[in-house]
Order: sequence, then C-alpha cells, then structure tokens
Amino acid sequence: MRRLPAVLLAMLLTCATLVVPARAGTAREVTYDKYSLTVDGRRIVLQSAEFHYFRLPSPELWRDVMEKFRAAGFNAVSLYFSWAYHSPAPGVYDFTGVRDVDRLLRIARQAGLYVIARPGPYINAESTGGGFPAWLKTVPGRARSSEAGYQAAYREWLHRINPIIARHQVTEGGPVVLYNAENEYQVNTDAAYMQDIQDQARADGIEVPITTNDCCDGGSWSSTWATGPGAVQIPGVDDYPQSFECANPDLWGPWGEGLTERLRDDIPVFAAEYQAGAIDLGNAGYDKCRELTGPAFMKFFYKNNLIQTGATMFSYYMGYGGTNWGWLAQPNDVYTSYDYGAAITEARRPTPKYDEFKRQGYFLEAVAPLAKTDAITSPAAPGNGALTTVARANPDTGTQFVLLRHTDRAATGTDAATLDWAAPDGRYQVPARVKGRDAHVLVAGYDLGGQRLAVSTSEIMTHAAIGGRDVAVLYGSAGSPGATVLRYSAQPSVKVLEGSVRAAYDGGDLRLDYAHEGLARVLVMGGGRRPLLLLIGTDEEAARFWRAGTPMNPVLVRGTELVRSAAVTGDTVRLSADTVAGEVEVFAPPSIRRVELGRSGGQSGGQDAGQSGQSAGRDEVRVSRTASGSLIGATRAPASAKLPDLTGWRARAEAPEAAPGFDDSRWKVADHTTTGNPHQPKTLPVLYADDYGYHYGNVWYRGRFTATGAETRVDLNAITGLRGNYLVWLNGRYLGTAAGGVQADSGDLWTPPNPDPGPGRFDIPAGLLKPGQDNVLAVLVANMGHNDDWIADDLRFKQPRGLVAASVGTTPITWKIQGTAGTDKLRGPLSTGGLYGERTGWHLPKYRDKAWKEAAPDAALAPGVTWYRTSFRLDLPKGQDVPIGLRFGGDPSPAYRVLIFLNGWNVGQYGGDIGPQRDFSLPAGLLTEHGANTLALAVTAGQPTSGPGPLSLFTYGNVRGGP
Ligand code: GAL
Repeated sequence: MRRLPAVLLAMLLTCATLVVPARAGTAREVTYDKYSLTVDGRRIVLQSAEFHYFRLPSPELWRDVMEKFRAAGFNAVSLYFSWAYHSPAPGVYDFTGVRDVDRLLRIARQAGLYVIARPGPYINAESTGGGFPAWLKTVPGRARSSEAGYQAAYREWLHRINPIIARHQVTEGGPVVLYNAENEYQVNTDAAYMQDIQDQARADGIEVPITTNDCCDGGSWSSTWATGPGAVQIPGVDDYPQSFECANPDLWGPWGEGLTERLRDDIPVFAAEYQAGAIDLGNAGYDKCRELTGPAFMKFFYKNNLIQTGATMFSYYMGYGGTNWGWLAQPNDVYTSYDYGAAITEARRPTPKYDEFKRQGYFLEAVAPLAKTDAITSPAAPGNGALTTVARANPDTGTQFVLLRHTDRAATGTDAATLDWAAPDGRYQVPARVKGRDAHVLVAGYDLGGQRLAVSTSEIMTHAAIGGRDVAVLYGSAGSPGATVLRYSAQPSVKVLEGSVRAAYDGGDLRLDYAHEGLARVLVMGGGRRPLLLLIGTDEEAARFWRAGTPMNPVLVRGTELVRSAAVTGDTVRLSADTVAGEVEVFAPPSIRRVELGRSGGQSGGQDAGQSGQSAGRDEVRVSRTASGSLIGATRAPASAKLPDLTGWRARAEAPEAAPGFDDSRWKVADHTTTGNPHQPKTLPVLYADDYGYHYGNVWYRGRFTATGAETRVDLNAITGLRGNYLVWLNGRYLGTAAGGVQADSGDLWTPPNPDPGPGRFDIPAGLLKPGQDNVLAVLVANMGHNDDWIADDLRFKQPRGLVAASVGTTPITWKIQGTAGTDKLRGPLSTGGLYGERTGWHLPKYRDKAWKEAAPDAALAPGVTWYRTSFRLDLPKGQDVPIGLRFGGDPSPAYRVLIFLNGWNVGQYGGDIGPQRDFSLPAGLLTEHGANTLALAVTAGQPTSGPGPLSLFTYGNVRGGP
C-alpha cells in the first residue's frame, strides 16, 4: 500500500469537522424537499447559531466563537450583515479590518460551519436603525418599500455585499448555504420590494436557496405570498416563546408553545430564528435572561420543535450575543452589552446552555435518520397524565423517535412511566422518568454504527466508530431509570467496567437495565457484531464529552473545557483544547499512545491561519490506558494572570463650546427651512442632526440671538432616543439638563416628553441676559442611536435626533451645529461622536495628556464634560485565553454618563440612566494583551456629582489554549 506523506495525512486527519466544505472550485448544490436541506447529496439537520460579527470587533475572536459553535455540534452560523456598520455615507462602503466580511466567511468555512447569510437590507437585531445607516433617514422614499429613493439606496448596499456573499457559496466551495431576504417583513408588505431583493441577489450571483424569517406566528406574509411575486423558496418563522422579561426567569412559554409552523408542504420546517436568549427589557441583567432561556427551556421547547413539528432547520438567536460597542445599539431595548443570556457569554465563556446545545447538537449530527421523518402513532405512556408522547419515524430506515415530555408547567412533578413501545424490532416495555418541564427524545430501530439499537430510554448524545469498535454516549436525568435493548444473533459477552448495569440476553435482545448515575461503562463483545463500548451518564457527565475528527477518524474526549479539533499523527493525538486543572480522557484507536495539547499549525490554511495566540507548541499529557481502552491523564492549571491597578489618572474638563467666545466659525450653519423627514420640526430652522450629516454620538448646537431684554426662558425639545439627555448653557452659564424625548414606539411624535412646566424649559437667571447684544446659547445633545423600523412604518426609524424645537420667546436665533469630526477609518462610522475631546483626539492612544492634572475619576465633578485618561500595561500568560473586563466599582449615578474608550475604540457607555451594566468587556484585539493600553473616559455630568470611579480590571475566565 502506498503511504501518504505524513504532512498530507496530518492535514487529512486534522479537520475538526464532520461537515467538511469542499475545496474551492468544486461545485456543490443545495436542494430541499419537505423533509430537509440536502447539501451535496447529503441530508442535513441544519443546526445554526446566530452571531453578529459587528458586535465583536476582533476578527481573531470570530474564530474563537465559531470554533466554539462547531464544538457544540452546530453545523451552521447565521450572520446578519449590518449596512450601517459598513456605510458612513451614500456610496461609501468599507469592508476592511474589523469589517472584513470576506475574512469572516473564510473563518466560518475553516471552522466547518455552513452560513445562513442575512444581509437585510433591513436586519432589526436591536442595532441602530435596525441596520439601516442613519444617512438613509435623509433619503426620500419610504424605507422597506419599492419607492425610488430607498430602492436606489438598498440596491447600492446589496450590490456591495452580495458579490462577497456570492463568492463564498457552497457552489463555489464556500460555506454559504442559504440567503435570507429582509427580516420579519410581514407588515405593510410590498411584494415588489421583496421580489426585487431576490432579483438583485440572483443578478449578483446568489445561487443558493433564498429564505426569509417570518415574524412570530408564521402568519400573514407567507400565506399571502406563498407563490407569486415576493415569494421566497424557503420561508421560515421566528419564535420567542419565553418573551423578554428576564426579571421573572421562572416564566414558561408566555408567548406560546413555541412550535414552528409548517408553512408549505414542499419545504422543510424552518425555525429561522428560535429563541436562545433574550434582550433584557426589564434591566434584570443577562444572567437572568440566561435562566429564562436555560437548559430546561431548551430541552422542552427545542425537542418539541424537532419531534412534534418535524423541523429540520434551526437557527438559534443568539449563539453568542456580543457587545453594542460605539453607537451600535438601537436605543429602546438594549444597553452596551448584548450578551443576550446566550449559550456563550459576551466574554466568550461557555455556560450550561452550551452544554445543552452540545447534547442536542451531537445527537442531531450523529443520528442521520432524523433528517427525514414523518409523524407516526406514538407509544403510550400509560398511568400518568402529565407524561405525553409524540413520535416520528424515518420512512426509509424505520428508525423511530419518540418524544416523552412532562407537561407540568409548574415544574414540580417528576413522573415515571413504563412505555409500551411497538418498535421496529419488536414490542418493548421500558421504564422512563421525566420531571416537570423536561422532554426526552428516545430512539428505536436504529443502526448505531455496527450495532442494532432496538430501543432505549436513555437519550443518545453521540456515537462513533473508533479503532474497530463503536463507542456510544447515552444519557438521562440523574437518578432516572434507563433501559437499552440491543440486538445480537448470538450471546455477546457483557462486561460492566463501571457503574451498576444489569444485563440479560434472551436469544436476540440484549437488555441492559440501570439508573443514570455518574458514568457507567459497559463493554459488549461478540454476538456477531464488532465491539461496543457504551458510556451511559447523567446529563452532566454527557456534557463532558467532546467529539472531534473527521468522520473516518473521530475521537471522543472526556474532560477539558473545550475541544476545538483533533489531529492524529503516528501514535499521537493532538487536541486543540481549552484546559484548566483536571482530567482528560481520550477515546482513540488503540494505535494511539500519546496525547498532546496544542493547536495544529497550519490547520486552517489560507491567510487567516497561524495568527492565533496559541502557537503550534506542544504540551504532552502523561497518559495511561484505562480498562475502557481509552487514555487518561491530567491537565495543568493555567498560570494566573496578574492585572495592574488602574492608577495614574489624569483629567481635563472640556466643553469650551459653552463659552460665548468659542470660535465656531468652521461649524456648519444650521439654516435649513425644510426637511425631507416625515416628521416636521416645531420651530425653524430645522435642527435635525442627520440633516446636517451628523449621525452618531453627541452633537453640539450654538445659537446666537440679539436679546430684547424681555426673554425670560429658553424652551428646548431634543429627541435623543431612550436614555438620552441634553445640557444647556447660556452665555457660558450652565442652565441645566433634561431627558431627551423618546417617542420610541408609537404615538404623536410631538407629545412633549417633559410635561409643562418641565425640564425642557430653562428659566434665564436674572442678570444673565445681555439686552441689545449677542447672546449665545450652547446645547449638547446626546444621540443614543436610531430607532429600528420593526413595523416597516418608516416613521419610527426616521424619527429625528437632535433639537426639534428651540426658542427664546419670539426672538430669532441663528444656529450652528457640530458633530463628529469624521469617520474614523480604523474604527468605522459608529465609534466616534462629536464631543470636543473626540473631535480633538483625546480618546486616542497617541494623544499626549502630560499637561492634564492628576485626578482619579472618583473626584467630584461639575456639570459639563470631563475627560480622564490613564494607561496600563498587560502581559497575560502566553498560550492562554484570559478575557478581561473593566469594572465600575461605585454606585452608578443618573447624574453622569460615561463613554469608555479603549485604545481609541468606544467600547461602551456606563451610568445610572443607561442600564444595569457595571462590567464592560475589553475584547482581545482591541485590548493589547502584551503591552501598553490606553483608557479614556468622557464623563458628561448633568449636575454636580461624585465621579464614576473607582475602576478596576478583572478576568472573566482563564484557560490554557484559546483561539
Ligand atoms: C426578532 C428579530 C431579530 C431580533 C429579535 C429579538 O424579531 O428578527 O433581529 O430583533 O427579534 O432579539
């Protein structure tokens, strides 16, 4: 036999994936029928996790998140593409650096994930403008319609983004399998618009099936447009059964049973967005959202969707949420963190939800007959009303899937039943026990590798042929009874290596009875089949397993925090794994004697390979062979990370714009008397910031008037978006602050946010006015981001930002306006606003602050804007992943709001009015992990207050390995 060169062999064995996208140039196809997608001739259950690259501005960390998805058994990632993120102005698009989506799609492919590409044009996603760039607010024509101005604008975006997506389709050897048009486009619909998006996509080379995500109940849109103009090939439905009130994490399906509707008979059931976390509407904190959508919810709802509905296309929103850094947030529903209570936290740490995804994802991937099933009569679960069953079977293999669920909504019950199961191999009575709000998918009549599984009341997590035998991982709730029946033509030898398992053979069936406790190990040999190692554990034990390797050569690993991939060379298996001190056990062919930890060099290929922190350095684990034939050893604790104190702060007050003599000669004159905005101003001139090209962050206004002497007060109305405010000075004297208008969702735009008399009115103190002379009004208005266009009414989205009314009695005022100095080429359009410090670069690392006075950010503050800067050095342990955060230690006060700049990047906003968040993620990439970093804080105080300090750095976690 000719031997393959070692390098080639290593490359072949290295890939972590079961789904191996073909090499560039080989044509592949995506087809579908009523059961499932078929990619390159193979039916798949699509298990996708949503990820927003724009919420993680660090491409190397994209790799980390996507590898973590893959390691949990996801075979796809769903990606929104944000138009706003790439386009600061009409005709201007940027796909470089953190916006390099070519690289994003390459990384997805390298991670072994298919991609659902979702370029909008409208995406929602609680992102500013719902993904629409703010300049679109000044374009005539109703958004999300066929009207001319909007049409020209969105076509421009599509013609930029589509070609990038097109070259990464599976038909081109890339990962993109589906293209999603628009987002929840079902209200006020315009079929021609929906059709045009698809026509543009096809013209730009999109060949894969086009999908869309229908809102909420699969209602209006798809039924009206099932065929004809606007119809997509595979409509799907979004479902959020747990809603978004995280303060009450014990809720159970307030928005329904969560079953994704079958929309058509010729397509698979597509859960286009299925709830996997929540926005934190009540400011309860994302840990509560993680509870609300935790493993119990996932077990019950996801498995119901799989077996009751027969869905085979799932996209879970979100798999990883990320950060609303800069001005990325839509202001009404979210604050800086978009952690979402997802399976992987904002700081990229896996959670118990990740474990549940892994248990389910591995099952979907290992048990192929699931991709094609029809409903069948289910076995009864007699004797207990709370336990119900529903079942499906694969028409070709006969394999049955029975969902046994406990319908007690209060989660108090735990009920047992003996299933009377007419399975393909015979009729079986098998015991099971399910607690309230839980559901198990049980399998019968399944060719499990070289074995025949007649029936089991344990759930299958995964199985693999390893070194001439089958290794299978089964599981059940701790303490519950289980029975597994396997078929053998002759009596096999059964060796219980660990745990308590009773075995009986009756001339055909080998029946194993046990309780799920710890991890039982059973070796079955002979009986006319290849050997089988059965590993039967509790949920927790099952979650400790990882599967890595090609289909020809998988390995199973028990222990470690994460296994990204495995490579076999000679007698050594090399695991790219994240580890802490603990046990690692590897199930590999017997020829393997050694275990190494460390990323395999060059594994990914292409220009993105080898940039990761973990080099090809080796770290051998001393192992011994177990009775199970596996190799066991111990992993070392990571070196601890030393973090510096944040000291050496310097401070400088700004807002020179408030002073009467400030030179604003280069500011834009704000003198428009008309606006294309559907909302008309209350006073003229038009002062809408967007109309003057200032779209993100703070904006300054300076108004001059010749006082008559009769003026007694200043009346202002600014619209900022929720949580925004504005500050007012007259002739250099601070008059006060007010909350900005919100008018987020409905109603009359001009309903005053601050009822009369209110803080929108500022009395002029005696002696301040200069009759007959120039008086200068200075107003600093926050812009918290742009509303979305969720209901496609154009009005919410186009709601102005900035001053919408301004008067000093009837005295005429002339206005100037100043916002951001321009788009930061590196950091993109959403990072920098119009504070004086931002316009003069105080947030940038290179700025020299030596002349600033020494002062820590906990010192007392006067109203206005004060900046703080410090720098710190890091030298985090090499070859480890240590995510770092910044913590505000004091009680957040509504008196201030703080913009946080890390090395010039606006990484978030803190303050008592902003949200419950005190910890801010400082992602590697923006953070220099080995070297100097600069922190700058811009603190806007509306009244005298103590500062926002003290501040400290902390670690979210620490593992060896990493991306
Ligand atoms: C969906 C929408 C997503 C996101 C989600 C809630 O309706 O399509 O973009 O907004 O709700 O987080």
